Amino acid sequence: HKRSIHKQQSTMSFEKISWEYKGFTLPRDITEETLDDLSTFQIRDDDIVVASFPKTGTNWLLEIVGKILRAAGKTESSTDSLIAPGPLEMKTPTATQPCYVMLADMPSPRIVATHLPFELAPEGISKPQNKVKILVPMRNPKDTAVSLYHFGNKIFKLMGITHDIPWEGFAQKFTNGKVAYGPFEDHVLGWWKMRDDPHFLFLKYEDMKKDLLSAVKTIVAFLEVDLDESTIKGIAEASTFNNMKADMDNSKMAERQAIARKGIIGDWKNMFTPEQSKAFDDWYEEKFSGTGVIFDFE
Ligand code: A3P
Repeated sequence: HKRSIHKQQSTMSFEKISWEYKGFTLPRDITEETLDDLSTFQIRDDDIVVASFPKTGTNWLLEIVGKILRAAGKTESSTDSLIAPGPLEMKTPTATQPCYVMLADMPSPRIVATHLPFELAPEGISKPQNKVKILVPMRNPKDTAVSLYHFGNKIFKLMGITHDIPWEGFAQKFTNGKVAYGPFEDHVLGWWKMRDDPHFLFLKYEDMKKDLLSAVKTIVAFLEVDLDESTIKGIAEASTFNNMKADMDNSKMAERQAIARKGIIGDWKNMFTPEQSKAFDDWYEEKFSGTGVIFDFE
């Protein structure tokens, strides 16, 4: 009996936090009105955007871009005040309005995040013109699912829902496309259409973990700024998980604390049963084979 109550509660709370729109599962917080309003979002020529599925390394890239702009003398502001306080379509926990409203008052250069799928993103981002630059992090879906699962539980606690979501059901929701911003495959493949467009840079979480210095060099080149080797090394060093975690935990912005969890490749092995792993592999094969999207799971 206890079990069935538990199950019912978790379904209810899930319904409460998400809804379906044009084939995507969106957090409740984002309304149809928000999405309409967003079509008028004014992109600026020197905006830098991180467009990502949640938990794929969004904040890692935002921080690196911030450090690069500061080092290049593009701004006097602190890294924190360069970066929009949350994804443009969402309200941060402490705000009453979605981020895109606040963005209108932010000085340039702005570093903007969105988790919207390509199909729902404002045109300034899905059809970028001029110098607008868009970074797209990608992370293997097993680790992404695990990261999202732990993050979801944290959010649930903040919402006053004290029991944990069962992992078993969550893993299935992920491949069924029913987690926030899912289906994962539609999200990834939507943005992937832009891979040959020079406004876009795709970066894999796993590649960044294995060689952060090269990733930072790639980003510096993409942003067309001029930095010397030792500055670039310093930025890479400051952006390792441990160094960034210390920074983020000390961030003045509550929203930026608690983003750094484990920061490793392969944490999925601590969560997936062999059956769940097989189910994910089958799903992955079906959705991604022949698309050119290749994830690194180890
Ligand atoms: P884990 O939950 O697996 O630890 P996002 O910013 O898109 O929400 O992604 C969050 C994930 O990126 C978390 O993954 C977080 O730990 C990881 N992350 C944040 N900063 C990182 C860094 N400097 N190096 C590696 N991983 C980082």
